[in-house]
Amino acid sequence: MAIVYLNGEFLPLADAKISVLDRGFIFGDGVYEVIPVYGRRLFRLQEHLQRLENSLQGIKLVNPLTHAQWVETLQSIVAHNPGEDQSVYLQVTRGPAKREHNFPAKIVPTVFVMSDPLLTPPPSPGVSAITCPDTRWQRCEIKAITLLANVLHRQQAVETGAVEAILIRDDHVMEGAASNVFIVQRNVAITPPKSQFILPGITRDLVLEVMQVANLACREEHITIAQLRTADEIWLTSSTREILPVIRLDKRLVGRGQPGPLWQQVWQLYQDYKQRLRTYA
Ligand code: PDD
Repeated sequence: MAIVYLNGEFLPLADAKISVLDRGFIFGDGVYEVIPVYGRRLFRLQEHLQRLENSLQGIKLVNPLTHAQWVETLQSIVAHNPGEDQSVYLQVTRGPAKREHNFPAKIVPTVFVMSDPLLTPPPSPGVSAITCPDTRWQRCEIKAITLLANVLHRQQAVETGAVEAILIRDDHVMEGAASNVFIVQRNVAITPPKSQFILPGITRDLVLEVMQVANLACREEHITIAQLRTADEIWLTSSTREILPVIRLDKRLVGRGQPGPLWQQVWQLYQDYKQRLRTYA
């Protein structure tokens, strides 16, 4: 059985228990990270821990572990679990307390970490996505566990046979329910700039980085719904799905209805980057 970490202890998943008064359970008062592991190495760990720190500051919660303690804990979880490639999930909530909206005076945060096997998605033949109005709050840069709007958006996509919902606010593309969005226009990849309306995705940043290194044109710019509808390519990026080409949007073909040439190139750069991490001594 999977070994998880809960509040200082490593134990089998079935033995990990928290109070029903935990504010994560009662209010969704907490933040999380999903970190891929390739060849037992945590991918972009510094970036994930920095985003965790930013999320904790965003909800006014002092980080319960030091940087060194996080590194040690996460590496131990990887070592305790099977598989060269894993997906590590960590969550910090404000902890258990009598139910009251404002922060309780004395409260100990709950820290939980688990890991699942990570199956690298094969080169995708392309997926379908839908668009829908973004009904989320205005602090989407915080990786909060409060994900009900995202859950409903994703469910709406799945119920129509699509894999993702692309969220639109004021006629502009924000991101997917659990991914960032890129479009390609005349060989230039464009992704919305960071703001309070999107999660600053680690995969998004890496895609921009590998493209810049390879001298491929990419820009951080607002994307209108009209640009999305006429894009040559659309990609979704996330830690678990990597870079997914969208070939159908709201049941209409994107470009020629197959993964585009720029996606093919960037996907390969991303695989090469992962491979270097796996083999780096
Ligand atoms: N979600 N935007 C949202 C709303 C997300 O939930 C995610 C990832 C991303 C992509 O971020 P990253 O590249 O750092 O994974 C963008 C994770 C995978 C999840 O909730 O499972």
